[in-house]
Amino acid sequence: MAKKRILSGMRPTGKLHIGHYVGALENWIKLQNEYDSYHLIADYHVLTTDLLTDEINSNTLEMVIDWLCAGLDPNKSPFFRQSQIKEHTELFLIFSMLITKARLERNPTLKEQVRDLNIDNIIYGHLGYPVLQAADILLYKGEAVPVGEDQVPHVEITREIARRFNNQYGEVFPEPDALLTNFARLPGLDGDAKMSKSIGNTILLSDDKETVNQKLRKAVTDPQKVRKNDSGRPEVCLVFTYHKKFNSTEVAEIELGCKSGSLGCVDCKNKCTSKINEFLSPIIEKRNFYENNLEKVKNILFEGEKKAKQVAIDTMNEVHDKMKMG
Ligand code: TRP
Repeated sequence: MAKKRILSGMRPTGKLHIGHYVGALENWIKLQNEYDSYHLIADYHVLTTDLLTDEINSNTLEMVIDWLCAGLDPNKSPFFRQSQIKEHTELFLIFSMLITKARLERNPTLKEQVRDLNIDNIIYGHLGYPVLQAADILLYKGEAVPVGEDQVPHVEITREIARRFNNQYGEVFPEPDALLTNFARLPGLDGDAKMSKSIGNTILLSDDKETVNQKLRKAVTDPQKVRKNDSGRPEVCLVFTYHKKFNSTEVAEIELGCKSGSLGCVDCKNKCTSKINEFLSPIIEKRNFYENNLEKVKNILFEGEKKAKQVAIDTMNEVHDKMKMG
């Protein structure tokens, strides 16, 4: 039986952090064996909140390097930029006729962004963010989309657009399902619920040993555990969350030690630092290689774009046929 098709995507914002790994990449890497996967670099989507394009290319390369170093295999699943496959913009235009402004204004993810970024007059392209995302997914006839909670409304809009197109012009598109990533978000070093580049509370996949050490040393812990032998509450401590993810062998012992007061925060952080560094070490080693062989990285994109382009052309031919245009 043919493997199901997955379309996953990320906006290229530069180097990735361990939150990206836990929340997305790890899952993509697992799924690339079970599914026919396509990995999209959503460079046009960046423009919805940032019109400066000077760094888009370098940010794309940094992100692709992290994808490679973490274990995504471009031979199994092509990597490609939205901007280089013009069919994305064409399908986006057609889809924009199939959804109302009111529906897009009800998108909770958009409402959240408008609030967080203090946007008082939203641009047309930002309102249409999920329409472009629907084109990303459906151009490849994606049947499943691995995403976090915040992207579920966009997958729902994608399903609605697929249905609307199929009813209007004839069956072309599947209605994709969201594949929810099972590990919750990784908290930031400052105790914020989310590790995020814009907040600056991250550990990067490219951070060296000393940087990780410094960053963890400053990480917020349980405020009630003031002295080394006070008993702490692992469930409120972000360092403990990192242990759960990166130190499964010692986590039970650490929980007991923290609660009983036999383990102080400094020692606990040292253990965590060494486990995270152990995890990052092979990634950084590969990064050295790719940083010195940027041509290889560009070539991986080039090859991925060739493969993706062919699928995109086939879908658009079907679309034009059904629409009796051309
Ligand atoms: N909106 C997604 C995010 O911010 C990125 C994205 C763009 C995407 N196009 C996609 C994700 C298509 C999955 C499928 O995370």
